[in-house]
Amino acid sequence: MFNNLAPLMWHSFGSIIILIQEILSVYPALSPPTLTACASSRVCNAVALLQSVASHPETRTPFLKAYIPIYLYPLLNTVSSARSFESLRLTCLGVIGALVKADDTEAIGFLLQSEIIPLCLRIMETGEELSKTVATYIVERIVLDEAGLQYICFNMGRFFALASVLQTMVISLAEQPSARLLKHIICCYHRLTDHPRALEALRIRLPEALKNGTFVHCLKDDPVARNYLRQLLSTLAAPRVEAPQPPGPTEGGAPHAGPGSSQAGPSRVRR
Ligand SMILES: *[C@@H]1O[C@H](CO)[C@@H](O)[C@H](O)[C@H]1NC(C)=O
Repeated sequence: MFNNLAPLMWHSFGSIIILIQEILSVYPALSPPTLTACASSRVCNAVALLQSVASHPETRTPFLKAYIPIYLYPLLNTVSSARSFESLRLTCLGVIGALVKADDTEAIGFLLQSEIIPLCLRIMETGEELSKTVATYIVERIVLDEAGLQYICFNMGRFFALASVLQTMVISLAEQPSARLLKHIICCYHRLTDHPRALEALRIRLPEALKNGTFVHCLKDDPVARNYLRQLLSTLAAPRVEAPQPPGPTEGGAPHAGPGSSQAGPSRVRR
């Protein structure tokens, strides 16, 4: 019914700027944290309208070109655990989630350049289960993109920052399981093993709880996540790829087909 809401808003004079003004109006309440429930719900409605603009293929590019997501970053950068802040963070994550969902390299490039990853990592560390899940989903979608994977793994500081947050989440999930969060964590690890340096680091750093059956019960209704976990563990257990390959007629023809190369097949399929 509202399929064309986003282009209508985008092209009608003054609509977008009014939504931005709604966002700017809560900045003074962010620090020190004094945002009321009423102000939070009002700005959440404005942000939800922007989510439709971020989702729509016709308005996504101009939305990025106008740098509008940046206005949301101060709202994501809050740390108060009050409900008014948590729901605001969650709603803003919805906009970023809509951008990464589209499988759009331009959107991923925008988010990388504007440093969304540290904001997501912080929410993965300190947020409630739902915002943790959305933030982890965003990171997962970003690393599924080739530029995103390179961004994280080019600099080992970035990689270890992500690995340590993932590890902390796994440890707390052992006490308070959440199947949907666990699935995104597993998918992140799974994708990271596509990068040789990250693969080597994860051979040592993968949390024990993922290996020893702690989550069997949590994953019992999710065959897809179980399958990703199985592939992840077998990739990490496989011998290193640089082991000498047996000489033969195919030598030189298939450089990635050595032992331990479990990268082909369903593991590459995007969800
Ligand atoms: C699995 O490993 C975790 C973390 O080391 C530990 O707390 C847990 O007791 C282990 N579970 C089993 C079933 O061995």
